[in-house]
Amino acid sequence: MPARSRPRDRGGSFPRLRRLRRTAALRDWVAETAIEVRRLIYPVFVGPDRAEPEPIPSMRGIRRYSPRTVGALARQLEDEGIRAVLLFGTARRKDAEGSDAWSDRGAVPESVRAIRRDAPELIVATDVCLCAYTSHGHCGVVRRREVDNDATTERLGRIAVAHADAGAHVVAPSAMMDGQVARIRRALDEADHEETAILAYATKHASAFYGPFREAEGSTPGFGDRRGYQMDYRNGREALREMELDAAEGADLLMVKPALTSLDLLARARRRFALPIAAFQVSGEFAMITAAAKAGAVDERAAVEETLTAIRRAGADLIVSYFARDVARWQREGR
Ligand code: PBG
Ligand code: ZN
Repeated sequence: MPARSRPRDRGGSFPRLRRLRRTAALRDWVAETAIEVRRLIYPVFVGPDRAEPEPIPSMRGIRRYSPRTVGALARQLEDEGIRAVLLFGTARRKDAEGSDAWSDRGAVPESVRAIRRDAPELIVATDVCLCAYTSHGHCGVVRRREVDNDATTERLGRIAVAHADAGAHVVAPSAMMDGQVARIRRALDEADHEETAILAYATKHASAFYGPFREAEGSTPGFGDRRGYQMDYRNGREALREMELDAAEGADLLMVKPALTSLDLLARARRRFALPIAAFQVSGEFAMITAAAKAGAVDERAAVEETLTAIRRAGADLIVSYFARDVARWQREGR
């Protein structure tokens, strides 16, 4: 047997990371991150009763359901492997106070009851805010052209109780009022809903990426903007303070949004808190990808998987995404 010749001039000895990149099997074997469907939350728009779901023009493929049609959707989601929904309601009638938001007969409580009846395994979370119910479109009670913090948190408590009465497992306050988590926790406990969890939109930036959602909800503020209550995206330390306060006030889960502009906050939050952390890939992030795909600039599935994986890698346990059903379908179909 000839002695094996010693390699000569092979470029030297150094770590060769490409060894584990050579085949799909090797790459999958060592992949650190996955987008598990069980971690995805599908946002669902619900409005006053209608015979058929209606398309939302600003968001391709997304429709608005109603108490009459949402049960069938929920059953379908269950079949597709989706575990949780986050409901966004629209008012039957808007007024200055947003009173339809805490009505027992509103679109959200009625839809929650329909989902709980028709899809008993699905986890039901509800957005708790006023902006889709107020005539001025702000997330709270307006006094002298400013949103009154404490009057608003009292209303948010009533909304949360109405949702919990209907059977919501989780309420998700998104108004960015100070003390809203504590106020909602107290209201829920006083109404014997100690079991209802709070998913706090702890760090919600005043963002350009909510445009398609506001169009869908008809919730663009009639005057001014939301920078008096939503966070300034220049601030990272303040974002952690928001999370700390919400955790101290009794939040069960913390949410960060938009997702793609908050990856640093997710990573820092993951290290700092033991609570489950969610990220919301918002409507503008959805629209950027669908529009770019439509223009032929990116492959939609690849862009969705890459962004969701980055959100997971940064530290999110749960992700709210309008692409949740697509991801479930892609995983069912296999690669
Ligand atoms: C309402 C609310 C908004 C979103 C979630 N809850 C809009 C806003 O603050 O203007 C954004 C969701 C999305 O863009 O997908 N408070
Ligand atoms: Zn709002």
